[in-house]
Amino acid sequence: MHIEIITTPNETLKESGFGTLKACNSVLDAIQRMGYSVRLNVCETKDDLDAVVKRKPGLVVLAVKYIPVNDKDELREDDIWLSDYFAQHRINFTGSSREVLKFDSNKVLAKIHLTNKGIKTANYFIATPGQYNNESELPITFPLFLKPLDAANGNGIDDLSFVTNFTDYESKIVSLYKSFNQPILAEEYLDGREFTVAVIKTVNEKLIVSAIEVIPPTSTNGLRILGAQAKKDDSEKLIKIDDNEVKSRVTILAIDAFNTLGVRDFGRIDIKANKNGECFFMEANLVPGMTDGSSYFPQACNIAHEFAYDKVIELLLAGGFARASSTVPPNICPDSDHKFLTAI
Ligand SMILES: Nc1ncnc2c1ncn2[C@@H]1O[C@H](COP(=O)(O)OP(=O)(O)O)[C@@H](O)[C@H]1O
Ligand SMILES: [Mg+2]
Repeated sequence: MHIEIITTPNETLKESGFGTLKACNSVLDAIQRMGYSVRLNVCETKDDLDAVVKRKPGLVVLAVKYIPVNDKDELREDDIWLSDYFAQHRINFTGSSREVLKFDSNKVLAKIHLTNKGIKTANYFIATPGQYNNESELPITFPLFLKPLDAANGNGIDDLSFVTNFTDYESKIVSLYKSFNQPILAEEYLDGREFTVAVIKTVNEKLIVSAIEVIPPTSTNGLRILGAQAKKDDSEKLIKIDDNEVKSRVTILAIDAFNTLGVRDFGRIDIKANKNGECFFMEANLVPGMTDGSSYFPQACNIAHEFAYDKVIELLLAGGFARASSTVPPNICPDSDHKFLTAI
C-alpha cells in the first residue's frame, strides 16, 4: 500500500496540526521504517491535492485539518477541509470527519456538545469588547480566564488571561479581539492541576489511553498557565500520574469526551481540575502535535506506556490501515502487542 502525508506551509496557521516539517518528517520516517512506500506533500492549492488523488494512495495521513486558500480571516469559508476533500474523492484518510473536527476548531461547540451529554466543562460565556459595562453585568464572577475561541498552541494565552477585576477583564477582551477578530471565550478560572490524555482507538475498538499531568512553569505573577511562551520554550513538565484515583478520574473523563465527540482514530483531550480536584474537559486536539521528543501526544504515550515514537505512529495509523483493508505490511508483526492493551 502507498501512503501520502498531507501538510501545508503552516508557520502562519493558528490552528493545530502535527507541527512543522520536522514533525511531518519524523512521521514519514516512522512509516518508512514500517516498510511502506510513503511521500510527504506540502500542499497549498486544490491542484496539489488533485495530484495526490491521482496517485490513488491506500491511505492519506492528514497532518493539518485544512488548507487555507485565503489568508484573510473573513474569507475562511474558502479553506479546503482535507477530510471532506478526501472523503469526496473516496480516498481513505486518518483522523476524524470534518463535522467532528469542528469540535477541535471551536472550543465552545465542543463544550456545548459535551455539557448536553452531562460531561463537565468550565462554566463560560462569550464576550466582545464593550458588551458588558461593569462587573455586576458579567454572567460569571471573577476570577475568569480569557482565551480565543479557536486558536491553539497557547496563542493569545498569557498571564493577562487570568483576570480578577473589570478593568483587566475589558483590556484583555479588547486585545484578544484585536488579534483574533472574533468573540472571546471567558471561562470560570480553574485553579487545580492540569492533565492531557492521548487516546488511540485500536482496530478492535479498544482504546489505548495515556493520561499524564502537565505542570506549566510558574510565571512571575505566580500563575501556572500553559500559554504560548511556555509552549514555545518547552518549559512545562510532563509527568506520570501516580495517584490511581486521579488517573482513573482523568482517564474516564477523556474516554467520555472522546466517545461523545465521535472522534475517529486518535485525539488528545486536555483536562483541568479545580482546587477540589474535580476535573473538567478543556479542549480536544484532534490533529495533535507529533514532534518527536516534545509533543504531548507521543510524550504521553511514552510516559504512560513506554511506547517509543515509532510504536505511537504505528498505533495511530492502525485504524487507517484496517480501513485500507490491505495485507499486513512487511515490518509489522501481525501478532504485535495490540491485544493486551486495554482501556485503562
Ligand atoms: N478555565 C481555565 N482556567 C485556568 N486555566 C485555563 C483555563 N482554560 C485554559 N487554561 C490554561 O490555558 C492553557 C491553554 O488553554 P487551552 O484551552 O488548552 O488552549 P490551547 O488551544 O491554546 O492549548 C491551558 O493549558 C491552561 O493552562
Ligand atoms: Mg490546550
